[in-house]
Amino acid sequence: MNDRQALNIVGLVGTGMVGASFAYALMQNGIANELVLIDKDAERAEGEMMDLNHGLPFVRPMRIIVGDYSDLVDADVVVICAGANQRPGQTRLELLQINAGVFRDIVPRITAVNQDAIIVVATNPVDILTQISAEIVGIDRCHVLGSGTVLDTARLRYMLSQHYGVDSHSVHAYIVGEHGDSELALWSLANIAGVRLPDFVGGNGQGYDPAALDRLFNQTKNAAYEIIQRKRATYYAIGLGLVAIVEAVLRNQHTVMTVSSPLVGQYGVSGISISMPAIVGRRGVEEVINLPISESEMAAFQSSAQTLKDRLAEVR
Ligand SMILES: NC(=O)c1ccc[n+]([C@@H]2O[C@H](COP(=O)([O-])OP(=O)(O)OC[C@H]3O[C@@H](n4cnc5c(N)ncnc54)[C@H](O)[C@@H]3O)[C@@H](O)[C@H]2O)c1
Repeated sequence: MNDRQALNIVGLVGTGMVGASFAYALMQNGIANELVLIDKDAERAEGEMMDLNHGLPFVRPMRIIVGDYSDLVDADVVVICAGANQRPGQTRLELLQINAGVFRDIVPRITAVNQDAIIVVATNPVDILTQISAEIVGIDRCHVLGSGTVLDTARLRYMLSQHYGVDSHSVHAYIVGEHGDSELALWSLANIAGVRLPDFVGGNGQGYDPAALDRLFNQTKNAAYEIIQRKRATYYAIGLGLVAIVEAVLRNQHTVMTVSSPLVGQYGVSGISISMPAIVGRRGVEEVINLPISESEMAAFQSSAQTLKDRLAEVR
């Protein structure tokens, strides 16, 4: 093993709001030895590099540079946050045409220099861009995963934690399906301290209230629209979510996360990337977990997958 192979090297393509928030969170996390910033707007990448580097005396040592694709040769993970952003009122799927073109340009440039890096997609529509990227890299290699509903799951856990008066770390609930309008909550498996929600009473006396849970789900699903209306973009929570994914890969943690990955028959779905709880480690997505979901959840999940497949067909 040479010196560089012993390092944790992370590439970042797209240093906009999401990319920069990820870089800032990664730097504080301390897991990476080197971060390579790439953006088609070189000045923006340079400005972020300067600003981040000036914080190095406050965190663990690392190297942060602006590079081009050839600098990704030794990267262990490459996170892609490049592309157009969602404008107020615009759905994630409307971004598809533009961002599909961006990915068909970026991903081959990465694989030309490095076929081993795990590629983490954050750009929207994340499920479709994950599928396009995975098809370029090779579906069977499990090297491409999308942030999928990692953020939505975090939002739901936070909202449930507020509702029941418990720490969000103690809330086990998943949002699965599309990262977008057709996503669903797996209520049949949601639990706190191993107790399913119909039987759980929170520290604040809060008992089972299906209408309230429905409201929390809708708030979760529409959170991005609400935030974009107020501050034009969302970036802090997804930045932290991306660090959690990168850490799971670099440390080979086998962490269960609702990342998006190309399904090949699981839950009766194939030919599209979509989120279900999966084990994430050094090889990328190691396994999509086979959960005993309810019949109605299965139907909603398959319908979400079909929505995505229809959209993907539009840019084939
Ligand atoms: N997955 C999630 O949960 C989640 C959450 C929030 C935002 N997003 C998505 O992340 C993406 C980025 O959002 P943002 O707020 O950072 O946008 P932004 O406009 O601030 O940044 C995008 C960056 O990509 C760069 N870029 C565009 N085309 C490029 C190319 N071909 N090569 C290299 N760089 C390129 C731009 O120069 C810009 O710096 C959007 O698609 C947004 O919808 C995803």
